[in-house]
Amino acid sequence: MIERFLPDADATDVLGRALAATRPATAVVHLSGDLGAGKSTLARAWLRALGVEGPIRSPTYTLVERYPVPGGEALHLDLYRIGGAGELEFLGLDEAGAVLWLVEWPERGAGALPAPDLLVELAVAGEGRTVRLRAPGAEGAAWLARLVDHGDLQGFPESNP
Ligand SMILES: Nc1ncnc2c1ncn2[C@@H]1O[C@H](COP(=O)(O)OP(=O)(O)O)[C@@H](O)[C@H]1O
Ligand SMILES: [Mg+2]
Repeated sequence: MIERFLPDADATDVLGRALAATRPATAVVHLSGDLGAGKSTLARAWLRALGVEGPIRSPTYTLVERYPVPGGEALHLDLYRIGGAGELEFLGLDEAGAVLWLVEWPERGAGALPAPDLLVELAVAGEGRTVRLRAPGAEGAAWLARLVDHGDLQGFPESNP
């Protein structure tokens, strides 16, 4: 488990870029936290780092936005407004072609999403945010080890100073 304090939105961007730089070839990432915790900020920085140009819209109403990225497709989901996990089937998501899943409100798609490699939990902490990164499996654990070695995160303290 990694925990860091992100003092401002730029710090969330730095984390998004570091996650993009260290990601495995395919990854399923759950982004959890209350409204305003910074999930979309993180997803946007991550997608930009993968070369996505043009608008990155919040998938609040469409449930999913797709982007071509190196190796395949990135899927950015926001399941806040989903009626039930069964609705995911109707989106026709191409699991085989997706190299990256960034899923906001994953608990609302429980049972219908692929198993996560990385769990990102964001929470408001004063003016900033705390982030907790957990890896349920070996692939994710190796990813977290690369992330810790990645210089960009080293400036952020482990908790709200
Ligand atoms: N580490 C941070 N510290 C302070 N504000 C942040 C941080 N990360 C993101 N924000 C801000 O929080 C607000 C909500 O972010 P957003 O990514 O839309 O949240 P969510 O998708 O979780 O609802 C935005 O104004 C964003 O700039
Ligand atoms: Mg959001």
